Amino acid sequence: MLEALRTAAGPGNLILDREALEKYASDETEDLVFWPAVAATPTTTAQVSALMRVAHAHNIPVTPRGAGTGLSGGALPVKGGLALSLEKMNRILEIDRANLMAVVEPGVITQVLQEAVEAEGLFYPPDPASRGSCMLGGNVAECAGGPRALKYGVTKDWILGLEAVLADGTVINTGGKLLKNVTGYNLTQLLVGSEGTLAVVTKIILKLIPYPPFRSTLVATFDSLEGAAVALTKIFEARIIPCATEFMESSAIQAAAKKRGRHFPGMEAPATLLIEVDGYDRDVVERDGQRTGEVCLAHGALDVIVADSPTQQKEMWDMRRAIGEAVKGLSIYKEEDTVVPRANLPKLMRALDDIKKRHGLTTICYGHAGDGNIHVNILKMQMSDRDWAEKLPPAIREIFTEVVKLGGTISGEHGIGFVQREWLPLAMTKDEIELMRRVKAAFDPKGLLNPSKLIPE
Ligand code: LAC
Ligand code: ZN
Repeated sequence: MLEALRTAAGPGNLILDREALEKYASDETEDLVFWPAVAATPTTTAQVSALMRVAHAHNIPVTPRGAGTGLSGGALPVKGGLALSLEKMNRILEIDRANLMAVVEPGVITQVLQEAVEAEGLFYPPDPASRGSCMLGGNVAECAGGPRALKYGVTKDWILGLEAVLADGTVINTGGKLLKNVTGYNLTQLLVGSEGTLAVVTKIILKLIPYPPFRSTLVATFDSLEGAAVALTKIFEARIIPCATEFMESSAIQAAAKKRGRHFPGMEAPATLLIEVDGYDRDVVERDGQRTGEVCLAHGALDVIVADSPTQQKEMWDMRRAIGEAVKGLSIYKEEDTVVPRANLPKLMRALDDIKKRHGLTTICYGHAGDGNIHVNILKMQMSDRDWAEKLPPAIREIFTEVVKLGGTISGEHGIGFVQREWLPLAMTKDEIELMRRVKAAFDPKGLLNPSKLIPE
């Protein structure tokens, strides 16, 4: 079996050594570790296909992975077997200026693509917090989001076509360099966000737009999360669509400040919005930025600080981007990737505050308020293992029940993966989950591709 895998993977592409395997045993999800028996780092679609044929013949579980930056355990090889890393398939195959599209391999780092297209005056907007290290294949698998989703949408809104390898090694192509296409089922979008459970993506066709060169960035502080959520809705009523409206409570900014060893604007206030307006016309962007600040002040903002230079803009974003890592460093934690319709955010914030108080939990909330996506981090801190094990599940159940009641769902951008499966029945009916099981069986009848993910057992 090993010889067959070695031949399929190609020279130097099969890893058995325990030390080298370690990086394939975890991702960024909590402190979970599952060792694969073996890892492969193919460089071509033909090698991926050959590996899948061997795995299929020998019933080897296969867990595809990119950079392992996921937060729901999608890349964890929980059944052992083969960790299939696309890291070496990292070429930007084409930047097609005439069609405003790019064709890439799945191992391209998101920011590398962004910088490459920006050098040509073009823009690929999706910007997960991990964009400096995550890979586009992983972004496709999890349908990654990020701050700019508010104006520009998430990964799925930018994917026009895929090449993918099925569980038995068959290579398929979906979509194309087409802005319109109603030929058959939309398999492209079925694969986006399928978390590596249906196929292994080996090529991606992305949509691009001209790069918007102007931006106005500001920080607005509030005396409560709820107050910030209310002011936010007023920005849209003023007919401004910012490209990002990020939401942080003081403990989130303070954690980031501690990690970076510096002071950040807004860190003393209970709640802060980081807002950015971008566009193609300097005057319009400046006017909308100013107007946004005025709207915030008219609706309860304590203070508004407008970045007066690209350096200050970068500092504000650095503060925001540092939060995820900083919060992780504070304590054992559990993160819930809640999302509700934007207008229901004030209600969600009220409910979260109530749940946290009733269960005696420490939480830190931050996220992408404009699109209704808030990351609720529950921290263990000094709590005993027993209390943690007892208190957490009922609190999470209450949070998700409330989210669903508000018209939301249990993951906005991190996926269900391994760690949220048990909660899926709160968000989907039995019939809907059963339909997904049938879809999974159609793609992967032996259940070998990324087993124990997404669908509850
Ligand atoms: C963020 C990641 C955790 O928003 O989604 O920082
Ligand atoms: Zn996020």
